[in-house]
Amino acid sequence: MKATQAISGEIKLENLFSVLMRVTLENAGAQKSYLILLESGKWVIEAKAIRESNSSEEIQLKSKQSLPLDSTNELPTSIIYYVAHTQKTVVLDNATNETQFAADPYIQNYQPKSILCIPIINRGQFIGILYLENNLTVGTFTKYRHEVLKVLTTQAAFSLENAKLYENLSIAKNQLEEYSHTLENKVKERTEELNEKNLHLSETLKQLQHTQSQLIHTEKMSSLGQMVAGIAHEINNPITFISGNINHVAEYSQDLLDLINIYQQEYPNPTAKIKEIIEEIDLNFLTQDLDKLLNSMEIGVERISKIVLSLRNFSRLDESEMKPVDIHDGIDSTLLISQNRLNSQSNKSEIKIVKKYASLPVINCYPSQLNQVFMNIINNGIDALEKMRKKDSESSEKPTITISTKVTKDKRVQIKISNNGPSISPEIQQKIFDPFFTTKAVGTGTGLGLSISHSIIVEKHKGKLICNSVPGQGVEFVIEIPLSKDFLQKSGNRE
Ligand SMILES: Nc1ncnc2c1ncn2[C@@H]1O[C@H](COP(=O)(O)OP(=O)(O)OP(=O)(O)O)[C@@H](O)[C@H]1O
Ligand SMILES: [Mg+2]
Repeated sequence: MKATQAISGEIKLENLFSVLMRVTLENAGAQKSYLILLESGKWVIEAKAIRESNSSEEIQLKSKQSLPLDSTNELPTSIIYYVAHTQKTVVLDNATNETQFAADPYIQNYQPKSILCIPIINRGQFIGILYLENNLTVGTFTKYRHEVLKVLTTQAAFSLENAKLYENLSIAKNQLEEYSHTLENKVKERTEELNEKNLHLSETLKQLQHTQSQLIHTEKMSSLGQMVAGIAHEINNPITFISGNINHVAEYSQDLLDLINIYQQEYPNPTAKIKEIIEEIDLNFLTQDLDKLLNSMEIGVERISKIVLSLRNFSRLDESEMKPVDIHDGIDSTLLISQNRLNSQSNKSEIKIVKKYASLPVINCYPSQLNQVFMNIINNGIDALEKMRKKDSESSEKPTITISTKVTKDKRVQIKISNNGPSISPEIQQKIFDPFFTTKAVGTGTGLGLSISHSIIVEKHKGKLICNSVPGQGVEFVIEIPLSKDFLQKSGNRE
């Protein structure tokens, strides 16, 4: 009873083997006890217990061996295989005398006396064999012991199945844990991937929004271009009459004044009526003012013509041909034209020009249009520096415009035009490329300079025009034009 309890109490396979071996050895009066199980169609020794011959207490236990039966000579294999085939118990009182197994090499070598070999069957399923041996005493395995062992093996078979199930369960549990761990890692990986994709998506969205605003801008510019072209044309005609006739008006009026002068000299005593009219029209004032009036009309007409020219340039960007040119020549000629504005005027200090020219290849572009861009940006720089000078004549920094050029790593010609004047606030920066946006006094700025420049660089030259302005560090305009492969001869370094 105690023995069966001990066996049924063990759920762990390894422990069960040990208990089973010990219990069978103790209850059967055997010296050797072997548990042989059928594993994947092969007979293997899973556990064994051997009692040292002199001592009744000392037992050598080995379990979880998984030693193939065929590879060992520590058992009479003919008896084991007999039981395996017949599923019948073999009881030998004196093995050496039994003719059926006497020829077994093990029996011949070790001359064992009593042997008991019992099949272990659980609910009709043959799962193993228990082998017991006593090589000192004949007839050890009496009927009583045989019965006891039968009970024990039945219990053992049941416990073995349970232990195996338990072992499978723990293996499955481990696998499940491992799987859940892998799953966790996979989920983590996927989350990271998703986050990355999200980031990528939001970047694409940003780019899209940027492209969209550029498209809107281009669209705006093109429809504006058409409108401006119409206006320029309409204004151009009357302006031509005025500017063409204003000289005649000046000439005629001068002739008339001269005539009056001569009349006055020839007839120094005018009639009362003439005197009255001379006073009425204030002839003296009229003579002086007529000149001034005509002058200011001329200036006005000139300004309108300039505006019309700007408008035409703005709307007719596709005029003139592409030519290979040296950018530095364009910048230098623009500076020459602006010379009068750069030189010192009376008590104001002059504007310093710093050139940092790198070696540039000749580039294919619309030269007159590029010059227009340089002119617009340089003029804006001069305006800003003059404004600053007026406000802060004590400023320690010399007003400077710096122009630097280089070829970028991605094969573009870069021209930076910067000035150390006041910076542009972010709100204004957003609008400076809009047509007609100006912060200058009425009559001074049209607000077209930068929008024209933008179209010339971006649309006509497939380049970039950006404005950088950090408080306290002035303003910088960066022009970038992609190099065309056909014009890559080098031009010299100049300062
Ligand atoms: N270097 C600069 N420093 C400070 N502000 C500038 C500079 N360049 C441009 N801006 C700002 O950008 C606005 C728009 O410039 P843009 O050249 O388009 O027009 P404008 O100079 O006002 O008129 P115009 O058509 O006569 O050139 C300017 O009014 C000014 O406020
Ligand atoms: Mg301008």
